[in-house]
Amino acid sequence: MDDIHTLHTQYATEDRLEIRRAVWQPGPEGNPSTAALDVILDSGAADVLELGCGTGAFAARLAAIPSVHVTATDASARMVQVTRDRGVEARVVDAQALPFADDSFDAVAALWMLYHVPDRDRALAEIRRVLRPEGVFVAITVGTDHLADLRSEAGGRPWEPSFSSENGPEQLAAHFDSVERAEFHTRAYFENRASALEYLHTMPDDIAWDLPEFTEPRGFGGHVTLFTCR
Ligand SMILES: C[S@@+](CC[C@H](N)C(=O)[O-])C[C@H]1O[C@@H](n2cnc3c(N)ncnc32)[C@H](O)[C@@H]1O
Repeated sequence: MDDIHTLHTQYATEDRLEIRRAVWQPGPEGNPSTAALDVILDSGAADVLELGCGTGAFAARLAAIPSVHVTATDASARMVQVTRDRGVEARVVDAQALPFADDSFDAVAALWMLYHVPDRDRALAEIRRVLRPEGVFVAITVGTDHLADLRSEAGGRPWEPSFSSENGPEQLAAHFDSVERAEFHTRAYFENRASALEYLHTMPDDIAWDLPEFTEPRGFGGHVTLFTCR
């Protein structure tokens, strides 16, 4: 899931992303997106940039706060259109080449997207450049144990993202003085075998996914990390 091919196959439309988003429920630590929102709001940020905004759900929450001006961006033209349709300012931007002046933003958010960026080191340098010196960067990603039980049961192996809970700190520390982390044990619920297979088939893995039949709803564990960088 880590190359430019992903952008064209996965995010040309919002369909796959919506199927995946729909099954997740927060765990005991709460909703990771809400925690990222709270970090931004607690910092007092006024100018906020979101990278890889997808369908714009997070940007819309920011845009609803009168003291915040949000610039939502995504490399997919369709995702930008869906975000604009929510009434949120959005533009097509590749995270590796940000068309913004130095020190433009108080906060930058990159949620579930850095593992798609081929030159992440360049993207992180760009984020640091457009962020004001006292600004905050929030990034969300998943661990290699994320949905590992479902993937294994369905004939696959755990996914090892290029930017994960495990390898994220080292990558971030190359660009930020301080990297804090918070873990979230989320859960994906599926009504039946067909809905679980539909989810698995939204992913680009070249795996002949299969599962035994189940008729009672089942839940599978996820692991999400929120990084807060300054
Ligand atoms: C897994 S989705 C996450 C979307 C959204 N942040 C969310 O949490 O629902 C990843 C998003 O990153 C975008 N993306 C992938 N590569 C990108 C890049 N190099 N620059 C900007 N956006 C990118 C995709 O188009 C997609 O909308």
